[in-house]
Amino acid sequence: MRKKIVAANWKMNLTLAEGKNLVDGILAGLPALSDARRVVIASPFTAIAQTVAQLQGKPYIYPGAQNCYAENAGAYTGEVSALMLKDAGVQYVILGHSERREYFKEDSALLAKKVNQGLSNGLQVIFCCGEPLEIRDAGTQNAHVEQQIKEGLFHLDAAQLTNIVIAYEPIWAIGTGRTATSAQAQEIHAHIRQVIAKQYGADAADNMSILYGGSCKPSNAAELFACPDVDGGLIGGAALKSDEFLGIINAMVGQ
Ligand code: 13P
Repeated sequence: MRKKIVAANWKMNLTLAEGKNLVDGILAGLPALSDARRVVIASPFTAIAQTVAQLQGKPYIYPGAQNCYAENAGAYTGEVSALMLKDAGVQYVILGHSERREYFKEDSALLAKKVNQGLSNGLQVIFCCGEPLEIRDAGTQNAHVEQQIKEGLFHLDAAQLTNIVIAYEPIWAIGTGRTATSAQAQEIHAHIRQVIAKQYGADAADNMSILYGGSCKPSNAAELFACPDVDGGLIGGAALKSDEFLGIINAMVGQ
């Protein structure tokens, strides 16, 4: 069954006190969720233990992380493994975010290994794809995201794929206030679903949650989430304020 998901990506923001207040505020206003209407909060590593504790016993709202390394353990100073995340109580990990690809030079070969680590440690992986502005302007965005998905995910078998969520995040829309129109989002989400269908079959594609990310906010979330192939959102700036994030969650729950 395809799930709707709204996931917060705090990026490198919030002290422990700020993060605690934010999660308290979200929990205070949270509508009823279900297996098919989920929320994820991907805090920085420093806040994970606190977020896990706050979400303990709260149904269908899950702690997440924003990255993990491609090995389980060893001499990799400064890195955090999927094993450690699972041990800390994390259930989702974001991989392949455009900021990781661009600033930290993460390529598809590394991401494919990270995906394997996430899955083999029992995490759900939110795998990001999305094109820069020049690719959008050239009109080759479909081929661009198809390549990212093939290189990052197509080594998986169908059973593994059930633990993947895809997040389409056009780089030109991230943090810019310039959201993709619902027509643009629907078009490329439908393409992504077709790409999955060709490789894994119609059922796998139909069950895949494909999230939109990039300047998603309460005022545009309902329209985006109403698109048949948009199954929720991966939220940056608007996830840092409880009222805005709740507005987006409500847009998902209302669909
Ligand atoms: P914004 O919502 O701030 O545009 O960020 C989107 C994003 O990158 C989420 O991963």
